[in-house]
Amino acid sequence: MAEANILLTGTKSEKYTQLLPLIRSLVEGEKDSIANLANVSAALKQGFNFFWVGFYLVKDNELVLGPFQGPIACTRIQHGRGVCGTAWKEATTILVPNVDEFPGHIACSSDSKSEIVIPIIKNEQVIGVLDVDSDQLNDFDETDKQYLTQLCQWLSDYL
Ligand code: SME
Repeated sequence: MAEANILLTGTKSEKYTQLLPLIRSLVEGEKDSIANLANVSAALKQGFNFFWVGFYLVKDNELVLGPFQGPIACTRIQHGRGVCGTAWKEATTILVPNVDEFPGHIACSSDSKSEIVIPIIKNEQVIGVLDVDSDQLNDFDETDKQYLTQLCQWLSDYL
């Protein structure tokens, strides 16, 4: 069982390097998807203090809000809509330095300023997305993309 308090140190890359094994240890012994996604959200929130971090899952051809940490969020997103729906449609990670400049961005909170969305792909299908929002502009970069993509690739085996 990982410790309840997560204190990460060093560069962003070093922080991810410390956090990902902790997340793996949380998830590996548990078969329930919702429990795993809930703890992954909490671990990312505790580790990085992201403004909003959580999952949307594909259900009946819509993205439906799943486990998350942060302010209340919109519950359903259509295919191709917003950053999440676009990441789903294109099956690719989308990094948005300034959400006001992303056409069709869905503003669940007016405090959200930048965002990264990573698709979770299983058997060549997008089954959900990991969405991380910041209340700062330009808060995500290639380092987040690299480690969060690695996390989502690994996580798909547990969903
Ligand atoms: N901004 C997202 C919607 C989800 S919330 O940010 C939690 C989007 O444009 O898809």
